[in-house]
Amino acid sequence: MTFPEHGRPADEVLAELDALAADDVDWHGGRVFSLAYFASEEIYRVARTANDKFLSTNALNMGAFPSLRRMQNEVVATVAGWLGGGDEAAGFLTTGGTESLLMAVKAARERGRAERGITEPDMVLPVSAHAAFEKAAHYFGVRSIRVPVGEDHRADPEAMAAAVGPNTVLVVGSAPQYPQGVIDPIPEIAALAIDQGANCHVDACMGGVTLPFLRRLGEDIPPFDFSVEGVTSMSIDLHKYGYTAKGASVIVHRDRGLRNHQTFVTDNWTGGLYGSSGVLGTKSGGPIAAAWAVLQHVGDDGYLQLTATARRATLRLRDRLEAIDGIQVLGDTPATLVAFRSNVADTFAIGDELGKAGWYCDRQGPPDSLHCTVHAGHAETVDGFADAVAEASDALGSGPTRGEAGAYGTVD
Ligand SMILES: Cc1ncc(COP(=O)(O)O)c(C=O)c1O
Repeated sequence: MTFPEHGRPADEVLAELDALAADDVDWHGGRVFSLAYFASEEIYRVARTANDKFLSTNALNMGAFPSLRRMQNEVVATVAGWLGGGDEAAGFLTTGGTESLLMAVKAARERGRAERGITEPDMVLPVSAHAAFEKAAHYFGVRSIRVPVGEDHRADPEAMAAAVGPNTVLVVGSAPQYPQGVIDPIPEIAALAIDQGANCHVDACMGGVTLPFLRRLGEDIPPFDFSVEGVTSMSIDLHKYGYTAKGASVIVHRDRGLRNHQTFVTDNWTGGLYGSSGVLGTKSGGPIAAAWAVLQHVGDDGYLQLTATARRATLRLRDRLEAIDGIQVLGDTPATLVAFRSNVADTFAIGDELGKAGWYCDRQGPPDSLHCTVHAGHAETVDGFADAVAEASDALGSGPTRGEAGAYGTVD
Protein backbone atom coordinates (compact mmCIF):
# COMPACT_ATOMS: atom_id res chain seq x y z
CA MET A 1 0.00 0.00 0.00
CA THR A 2 1.19 3.49 -0.69
CA PHE A 3 -0.10 5.87 1.96
CA PRO A 4 -1.81 8.61 -0.07
CA GLU A 5 -0.71 12.17 0.46
CA HIS A 6 -4.28 13.28 -0.13
CA GLY A 7 -7.25 11.26 1.07
CA ARG A 8 -9.11 9.32 -1.61
CA PRO A 9 -12.86 9.33 -2.28
CA ALA A 10 -14.76 6.94 -0.04
CA ASP A 11 -16.39 5.00 -2.89
CA GLU A 12 -13.08 4.52 -4.65
CA VAL A 13 -11.45 3.15 -1.49
CA LEU A 14 -14.37 0.86 -0.73
CA ALA A 15 -14.37 -0.48 -4.28
CA GLU A 16 -10.70 -1.28 -3.91
CA LEU A 17 -11.55 -3.46 -0.91
CA ASP A 18 -13.67 -5.61 -3.19
CA ALA A 19 -10.74 -5.95 -5.54
CA LEU A 20 -8.46 -6.88 -2.63
CA ALA A 21 -10.87 -9.65 -1.62
CA ALA A 22 -10.86 -11.19 -5.09
CA ASP A 23 -8.39 -13.93 -4.11
CA ASP A 24 -10.05 -14.76 -0.78
CA VAL A 25 -12.02 -17.96 -0.38
CA ASP A 26 -15.69 -17.53 -1.30
CA TRP A 27 -17.29 -18.33 2.03
CA HIS A 28 -20.87 -17.53 0.98
CA GLY A 29 -21.16 -20.18 -1.67
CA GLY A 30 -20.93 -23.41 0.36
CA ARG A 31 -17.51 -24.35 -1.04
CA VAL A 32 -15.57 -23.46 2.11
CA PHE A 33 -15.64 -25.97 4.97
CA SER A 34 -13.60 -23.99 7.47
CA LEU A 35 -13.11 -20.62 9.14
CA ALA A 36 -16.41 -18.95 8.17
CA TYR A 37 -20.08 -19.78 8.66
CA PHE A 38 -22.99 -18.75 6.53
CA ALA A 39 -26.67 -19.53 6.95
CA SER A 40 -28.47 -17.00 4.74
CA GLU A 41 -28.11 -13.52 3.26
CA GLU A 42 -30.83 -12.27 5.64
CA ILE A 43 -29.06 -13.51 8.80
CA TYR A 44 -25.82 -12.06 7.47
CA ARG A 45 -27.55 -8.72 6.87
CA VAL A 46 -28.81 -8.62 10.46
CA ALA A 47 -25.32 -9.41 11.81
CA ARG A 48 -23.67 -6.83 9.58
CA THR A 49 -26.15 -4.07 10.29
CA ALA A 50 -26.09 -4.61 14.06
CA ASN A 51 -22.30 -4.76 14.00
CA ASP A 52 -22.24 -1.53 12.03
CA LYS A 53 -24.51 0.31 14.45
CA PHE A 54 -22.27 -0.47 17.44
CA LEU A 55 -18.91 -0.69 15.68
CA SER A 56 -17.20 2.14 17.54
CA THR A 57 -18.89 1.74 20.89
CA ASN A 58 -16.55 0.48 23.59
CA ALA A 59 -17.35 -2.50 25.80
CA LEU A 60 -14.44 -1.59 28.07
CA ASN A 61 -16.84 0.51 30.10
CA MET A 62 -20.40 -0.67 30.11
CA GLY A 63 -21.32 2.13 32.50
CA ALA A 64 -21.04 4.39 29.47
CA PHE A 65 -22.77 1.87 27.21
CA PRO A 66 -25.50 0.20 29.28
CA SER A 67 -26.93 -1.14 26.02
CA LEU A 68 -23.88 -3.41 25.72
CA ARG A 69 -24.20 -4.60 29.32
CA ARG A 70 -27.83 -5.46 28.73
CA MET A 71 -27.13 -7.25 25.46
CA GLN A 72 -24.23 -9.17 26.99
CA ASN A 73 -26.33 -10.25 29.98
CA GLU A 74 -29.19 -11.37 27.77
CA VAL A 75 -26.97 -13.30 25.37
CA VAL A 76 -25.03 -15.00 28.18
CA ALA A 77 -28.26 -15.94 30.00
CA THR A 78 -29.74 -17.41 26.82
CA VAL A 79 -26.66 -19.49 26.09
CA ALA A 80 -26.31 -20.61 29.73
CA GLY A 81 -29.95 -21.70 29.58
CA TRP A 82 -29.22 -23.94 26.57
CA LEU A 83 -26.47 -25.61 28.57
CA GLY A 84 -28.18 -26.39 31.84
CA GLY A 85 -26.69 -23.40 33.64
CA GLY A 86 -28.74 -22.62 36.76
CA ASP A 87 -29.68 -19.20 38.17
CA GLU A 88 -26.17 -18.88 39.54
CA ALA A 89 -24.47 -19.28 36.14
CA ALA A 90 -22.53 -16.19 35.10
CA GLY A 91 -20.29 -15.30 32.23
CA PHE A 92 -19.11 -12.85 29.62
CA LEU A 93 -18.90 -12.40 25.91
CA THR A 94 -15.38 -12.67 24.58
CA THR A 95 -13.96 -12.07 21.13
CA GLY A 96 -13.75 -15.75 20.21
CA GLY A 97 -13.07 -19.30 21.25
CA THR A 98 -9.42 -18.59 21.88
CA GLU A 99 -10.14 -15.76 24.30
CA SER A 100 -12.77 -17.90 26.08
CA LEU A 101 -10.22 -20.70 26.51
CA LEU A 102 -7.55 -18.25 27.68
CA MET A 103 -9.97 -16.99 30.31
CA ALA A 104 -10.93 -20.52 31.38
CA VAL A 105 -7.28 -21.35 32.02
CA LYS A 106 -6.66 -18.05 33.79
CA ALA A 107 -9.70 -18.59 36.04
CA ALA A 108 -8.54 -22.11 36.91
CA ARG A 109 -5.05 -20.87 37.72
CA GLU A 110 -6.38 -18.12 40.00
CA ARG A 111 -8.70 -20.51 41.80
CA GLY A 112 -5.89 -23.02 42.33
CA ARG A 113 -3.72 -20.29 43.78
CA ALA A 114 -6.46 -18.83 45.98
CA GLU A 115 -7.95 -22.06 47.34
CA ARG A 116 -5.03 -24.50 47.23
CA GLY A 117 -1.95 -22.27 47.24
CA ILE A 118 -0.71 -23.74 43.95
CA THR A 119 2.23 -21.80 42.53
CA GLU A 120 3.27 -24.22 39.77
CA PRO A 121 -0.05 -25.08 38.19
CA ASP A 122 -0.67 -27.70 35.55
CA MET A 123 -3.65 -28.71 33.44
CA VAL A 124 -4.50 -32.13 32.06
CA LEU A 125 -6.09 -32.37 28.66
CA PRO A 126 -6.43 -34.80 25.77
CA VAL A 127 -4.16 -34.33 22.73
CA SER A 128 -7.30 -33.41 20.79
CA ALA A 129 -8.14 -30.31 22.85
CA HIS A 130 -7.78 -27.07 20.89
CA ALA A 131 -4.41 -25.40 20.27
CA ALA A 132 -5.61 -22.32 22.14
CA PHE A 133 -5.06 -24.21 25.39
CA GLU A 134 -1.34 -24.28 24.52
CA LYS A 135 -1.46 -20.55 23.96
CA ALA A 136 -3.07 -20.17 27.39
CA ALA A 137 -0.43 -22.41 28.96
CA HIS A 138 2.26 -20.26 27.37
CA TYR A 139 0.70 -16.93 28.33
CA PHE A 140 -0.26 -17.83 31.88
CA GLY A 141 2.56 -20.13 32.97
CA VAL A 142 0.42 -23.23 33.35
CA ARG A 143 2.07 -26.54 32.42
CA SER A 144 0.13 -28.39 29.75
CA ILE A 145 -0.01 -32.16 30.24
CA ARG A 146 -1.37 -33.72 27.06
CA VAL A 147 -2.77 -37.23 27.27
CA PRO A 148 -3.33 -39.66 24.35
CA VAL A 149 -6.90 -40.35 23.27
CA GLY A 150 -8.58 -43.71 22.68
CA GLU A 151 -9.12 -45.54 19.37
CA ASP A 152 -12.40 -43.68 18.96
CA HIS A 153 -10.49 -40.36 19.27
CA ARG A 154 -12.28 -39.55 22.53
CA ALA A 155 -10.40 -38.55 25.69
CA ASP A 156 -9.27 -41.45 27.84
CA PRO A 157 -10.34 -40.62 31.43
CA GLU A 158 -8.12 -43.31 32.95
CA ALA A 159 -5.05 -41.96 31.22
CA MET A 160 -6.09 -38.46 32.30
CA ALA A 161 -6.55 -39.65 35.91
CA ALA A 162 -2.99 -40.97 35.87
CA ALA A 163 -1.74 -37.54 34.77
CA VAL A 164 -3.69 -35.51 37.35
CA GLY A 165 -1.64 -34.50 40.38
CA PRO A 166 -1.64 -32.13 43.36
CA ASN A 167 -0.77 -29.15 41.11
CA THR A 168 -3.58 -29.76 38.65
CA VAL A 169 -5.84 -26.73 38.48
CA LEU A 170 -7.79 -27.70 35.37
CA VAL A 171 -8.98 -30.73 33.46
CA VAL A 172 -10.46 -30.30 29.99
CA GLY A 173 -12.93 -32.06 27.76
CA SER A 174 -14.43 -30.95 24.47
CA ALA A 175 -17.94 -31.18 23.09
CA PRO A 176 -17.08 -31.87 20.40
CA GLN A 177 -13.33 -31.72 19.91
CA TYR A 178 -12.26 -30.12 16.64
CA PRO A 179 -10.12 -32.80 14.93
CA GLN A 180 -12.68 -35.62 14.55
CA GLY A 181 -15.82 -34.01 15.99
CA VAL A 182 -16.36 -36.52 18.79
CA ILE A 183 -17.56 -35.67 22.30
CA ASP A 184 -15.22 -36.48 25.17
CA PRO A 185 -16.58 -38.44 28.18
CA ILE A 186 -17.37 -35.34 30.20
CA PRO A 187 -18.82 -36.97 33.38
CA GLU A 188 -15.65 -39.02 33.90
CA ILE A 189 -13.41 -36.02 33.22
CA ALA A 190 -15.44 -33.77 35.54
CA ALA A 191 -15.19 -36.38 38.29
CA LEU A 192 -11.40 -35.99 38.18
CA ALA A 193 -11.81 -32.27 38.82
CA ILE A 194 -14.08 -32.87 41.80
CA ASP A 195 -11.59 -35.29 43.36
CA GLN A 196 -8.83 -32.72 43.02
CA GLY A 197 -10.76 -29.54 43.85
CA ALA A 198 -9.83 -28.32 40.36
CA ASN A 199 -11.79 -26.69 37.56
CA CYS A 200 -13.26 -28.65 34.68
CA HIS A 201 -13.70 -26.71 31.46
CA VAL A 202 -15.86 -28.08 28.66
CA ASP A 203 -14.80 -26.59 25.36
CA ALA A 204 -18.09 -26.37 23.51
CA CYS A 205 -16.86 -23.69 21.12
CA MET A 206 -18.00 -25.93 18.25
CA GLY A 207 -20.95 -27.67 19.88
CA GLY A 208 -22.39 -25.17 22.34
CA VAL A 209 -25.08 -24.08 19.92
CA THR A 210 -25.60 -27.28 17.94
CA LEU A 211 -25.62 -29.98 20.64
CA PRO A 212 -28.56 -28.66 22.70
CA PHE A 213 -30.63 -28.32 19.52
CA LEU A 214 -29.52 -31.72 18.21
CA ARG A 215 -30.67 -33.28 21.46
CA ARG A 216 -34.06 -31.66 21.06
CA LEU A 217 -34.16 -32.99 17.52
CA GLY A 218 -33.92 -36.48 18.97
CA GLU A 219 -30.19 -37.17 18.52
CA ASP A 220 -28.48 -39.20 21.20
CA ILE A 221 -26.17 -36.60 22.74
CA PRO A 222 -24.25 -37.76 25.84
CA PRO A 223 -24.14 -35.49 28.91
CA PHE A 224 -21.68 -32.67 28.27
CA ASP A 225 -22.89 -29.50 29.99
CA PHE A 226 -23.63 -28.00 33.43
CA SER A 227 -26.00 -30.88 34.15
CA VAL A 228 -22.77 -32.80 34.78
CA GLU A 229 -21.53 -32.34 38.31
CA GLY A 230 -18.02 -30.93 38.41
CA VAL A 231 -18.18 -28.92 35.18
CA THR A 232 -17.12 -25.45 36.28
CA SER A 233 -16.99 -23.53 32.98
CA MET A 234 -17.92 -23.81 29.32
CA SER A 235 -17.05 -21.94 26.13
CA ILE A 236 -19.53 -21.50 23.28
CA ASP A 237 -18.72 -19.68 20.05
CA LEU A 238 -21.56 -17.67 18.59
CA HIS A 239 -19.43 -16.68 15.62
CA LYS A 240 -19.46 -20.33 14.58
CA TYR A 241 -22.84 -22.11 14.70
CA GLY A 242 -24.61 -19.04 16.09
CA TYR A 243 -24.01 -17.59 12.58
CA THR A 244 -23.28 -14.16 14.01
CA ALA A 245 -20.46 -11.73 13.22
CA LYS A 246 -16.87 -12.71 13.94
CA GLY A 247 -15.71 -11.71 17.40
CA ALA A 248 -18.35 -13.39 19.57
CA SER A 249 -17.93 -16.27 21.99
CA VAL A 250 -19.43 -16.87 25.43
CA ILE A 251 -17.67 -18.15 28.51
CA VAL A 252 -20.03 -19.31 31.24
CA HIS A 253 -19.03 -20.27 34.78
CA ARG A 254 -21.19 -22.40 37.03
CA ASP A 255 -21.44 -19.52 39.52
CA ARG A 256 -20.25 -15.98 40.21
CA GLY A 257 -17.57 -17.13 42.63
CA LEU A 258 -15.88 -19.09 39.85
CA ARG A 259 -16.36 -16.20 37.45
CA ASN A 260 -14.57 -13.83 39.84
CA HIS A 261 -11.34 -15.71 39.11
CA GLN A 262 -11.61 -14.66 35.47
CA THR A 263 -11.77 -10.90 35.88
CA PHE A 264 -8.93 -8.44 36.40
CA VAL A 265 -8.99 -5.21 38.38
CA THR A 266 -6.19 -2.77 39.18
CA ASP A 267 -5.73 0.77 40.40
CA ASN A 268 -1.94 0.56 40.35
CA TRP A 269 -1.43 3.51 38.02
CA THR A 270 -2.59 7.10 37.87
CA GLY A 271 -5.46 6.67 35.43
CA GLY A 272 -8.23 5.35 37.68
CA LEU A 273 -9.77 2.00 38.49
CA TYR A 274 -9.38 -0.41 35.58
CA GLY A 275 -11.48 -3.54 35.48
CA SER A 276 -11.84 -5.91 32.57
CA SER A 277 -13.48 -9.24 31.97
CA GLY A 278 -11.17 -10.58 29.29
CA VAL A 279 -7.90 -10.13 27.45
CA LEU A 280 -8.77 -6.88 25.71
CA GLY A 281 -9.16 -3.38 27.04
CA THR A 282 -11.03 -1.40 24.44
CA LYS A 283 -13.40 -3.76 22.70
CA SER A 284 -15.89 -3.04 19.94
CA GLY A 285 -19.53 -3.38 20.89
CA GLY A 286 -20.26 -4.42 17.29
CA PRO A 287 -19.97 -8.19 17.74
CA ILE A 288 -21.99 -8.00 20.97
CA ALA A 289 -24.83 -6.21 19.19
CA ALA A 290 -24.57 -8.60 16.25
CA ALA A 291 -24.79 -11.63 18.57
CA TRP A 292 -27.82 -10.17 20.33
CA ALA A 293 -29.53 -9.27 17.06
CA VAL A 294 -28.86 -12.61 15.36
CA LEU A 295 -30.14 -14.57 18.38
CA GLN A 296 -33.30 -12.46 18.27
CA HIS A 297 -33.69 -12.79 14.52
CA VAL A 298 -33.06 -16.54 14.25
CA GLY A 299 -34.87 -17.53 17.45
CA ASP A 300 -35.41 -20.97 18.89
CA ASP A 301 -37.23 -22.38 15.87
CA GLY A 302 -34.61 -20.94 13.54
CA TYR A 303 -31.73 -22.60 15.37
CA LEU A 304 -33.61 -25.90 15.44
CA GLN A 305 -33.98 -25.68 11.70
CA LEU A 306 -30.42 -24.54 10.98
CA THR A 307 -29.04 -27.27 13.22
CA ALA A 308 -31.18 -29.92 11.54
CA THR A 309 -29.97 -28.73 8.14
CA ALA A 310 -26.32 -28.77 9.19
CA ARG A 311 -26.65 -32.25 10.68
CA ARG A 312 -28.38 -33.61 7.57
CA ALA A 313 -25.60 -32.17 5.42
CA THR A 314 -23.00 -33.73 7.74
CA LEU A 315 -24.54 -37.19 7.53
CA ARG A 316 -24.89 -36.92 3.76
CA LEU A 317 -21.24 -35.89 3.44
CA ARG A 318 -20.08 -38.68 5.74
CA ASP A 319 -22.06 -41.30 3.83
CA ARG A 320 -20.87 -40.06 0.46
CA LEU A 321 -17.23 -40.02 1.58
CA GLU A 322 -17.46 -43.48 3.11
CA ALA A 323 -18.72 -44.81 -0.20
CA ILE A 324 -15.55 -43.68 -2.01
CA ASP A 325 -12.93 -46.40 -2.46
CA GLY A 326 -9.91 -45.77 -0.27
CA ILE A 327 -11.48 -42.92 1.72
CA GLN A 328 -11.82 -43.42 5.45
CA VAL A 329 -13.89 -41.17 7.71
CA LEU A 330 -12.26 -40.70 11.11
CA GLY A 331 -14.42 -40.85 14.21
CA ASP A 332 -18.17 -41.02 14.42
CA THR A 333 -19.24 -37.43 14.99
CA PRO A 334 -22.57 -36.87 16.72
CA ALA A 335 -22.17 -33.23 15.69
CA THR A 336 -21.27 -31.47 12.44
CA LEU A 337 -17.55 -32.06 11.78
CA VAL A 338 -16.21 -34.61 9.31
CA ALA A 339 -12.55 -35.68 9.14
CA PHE A 340 -11.33 -38.06 6.45
CA ARG A 341 -8.19 -39.46 4.92
CA SER A 342 -7.17 -41.59 2.00
CA ASN A 343 -5.69 -45.03 2.48
CA VAL A 344 -4.47 -45.00 -1.12
CA ALA A 345 -3.51 -41.52 -2.32
CA ASP A 346 -1.65 -38.88 -0.32
CA THR A 347 -4.37 -37.17 1.71
CA PHE A 348 -2.92 -33.68 1.34
CA ALA A 349 -2.56 -34.19 -2.42
CA ILE A 350 -6.32 -34.71 -2.43
CA GLY A 351 -6.57 -31.44 -0.51
CA ASP A 352 -4.50 -29.74 -3.23
CA GLU A 353 -6.77 -31.11 -5.96
CA LEU A 354 -9.83 -29.92 -4.05
CA GLY A 355 -8.24 -26.49 -3.77
CA LYS A 356 -7.64 -26.34 -7.53
CA ALA A 357 -11.31 -27.20 -8.05
CA GLY A 358 -12.40 -24.30 -5.83
CA TRP A 359 -13.09 -26.16 -2.58
CA TYR A 360 -11.50 -25.30 0.75
CA CYS A 361 -11.17 -27.52 3.79
CA ASP A 362 -8.65 -27.79 6.61
CA ARG A 363 -5.62 -30.06 6.75
CA GLN A 364 -4.61 -31.60 10.02
CA GLY A 365 -2.74 -34.35 11.77
CA PRO A 366 -1.66 -36.66 13.12
CA PRO A 367 -3.06 -38.63 11.43
CA ASP A 368 -2.85 -36.72 8.13
CA SER A 369 -6.44 -35.91 7.30
CA LEU A 370 -8.77 -33.35 5.80
CA HIS A 371 -11.36 -31.64 7.94
CA CYS A 372 -14.78 -30.24 7.09
CA THR A 373 -16.79 -28.00 9.36
CA VAL A 374 -20.27 -28.49 7.93
CA HIS A 375 -22.88 -25.79 8.45
CA ALA A 376 -26.36 -24.98 7.24
CA GLY A 377 -24.97 -23.25 4.16
CA HIS A 378 -23.61 -26.58 2.92
CA ALA A 379 -27.00 -28.26 2.39
CA GLU A 380 -26.74 -28.00 -1.39
CA THR A 381 -22.99 -28.42 -1.82
CA VAL A 382 -21.87 -31.53 0.06
CA ASP A 383 -22.60 -33.76 -2.93
CA GLY A 384 -20.42 -31.61 -5.17
CA PHE A 385 -17.66 -31.75 -2.59
CA ALA A 386 -17.88 -35.54 -2.30
CA ASP A 387 -17.81 -35.80 -6.12
CA ALA A 388 -14.66 -33.69 -6.13
CA VAL A 389 -13.03 -35.94 -3.50
CA ALA A 390 -13.90 -39.02 -5.58
CA GLU A 391 -12.45 -37.44 -8.73
CA ALA A 392 -9.25 -36.37 -6.97
CA SER A 393 -8.89 -39.77 -5.38
CA ASP A 394 -9.32 -41.51 -8.76
CA ALA A 395 -6.94 -39.17 -10.53
CA LEU A 396 -4.18 -39.55 -7.94
CA GLY A 397 -4.56 -43.30 -7.42
CA SER A 398 -1.63 -44.65 -5.46
CA GLY A 399 0.79 -42.40 -7.36
CA PRO A 400 3.70 -40.52 -5.76
CA THR A 401 2.13 -37.03 -5.66
CA ARG A 402 2.52 -35.44 -2.24
CA GLY A 403 0.46 -32.47 -1.09
CA GLU A 404 1.05 -29.48 1.15
CA ALA A 405 0.40 -29.98 4.88
CA GLY A 406 -0.90 -26.40 5.16
CA ALA A 407 -1.61 -24.69 8.48
CA TYR A 408 -4.59 -24.22 10.78
CA GLY A 409 -3.46 -20.70 11.61
CA THR A 410 -0.68 -18.49 10.26
CA VAL A 411 1.78 -15.94 11.67
CA ASP A 412 2.48 -13.79 8.61
C1 LIG B 1 -13.20 -26.89 19.75
C2 LIG B 1 -12.66 -25.52 19.48
N1 LIG B 1 -12.24 -24.76 20.49
C3 LIG B 1 -11.76 -23.53 20.30
C4 LIG B 1 -11.65 -22.99 19.04
C5 LIG B 1 -11.03 -21.65 18.85
O1 LIG B 1 -11.94 -20.71 18.40
P1 LIG B 1 -11.50 -19.34 17.72
O2 LIG B 1 -10.86 -19.70 16.42
O3 LIG B 1 -12.80 -18.62 17.60
O4 LIG B 1 -10.56 -18.63 18.60
C6 LIG B 1 -12.07 -23.76 17.94
C7 LIG B 1 -11.98 -23.23 16.59
O5 LIG B 1 -12.29 -23.88 15.62
C8 LIG B 1 -12.59 -25.05 18.16
O6 LIG B 1 -12.97 -25.83 17.15
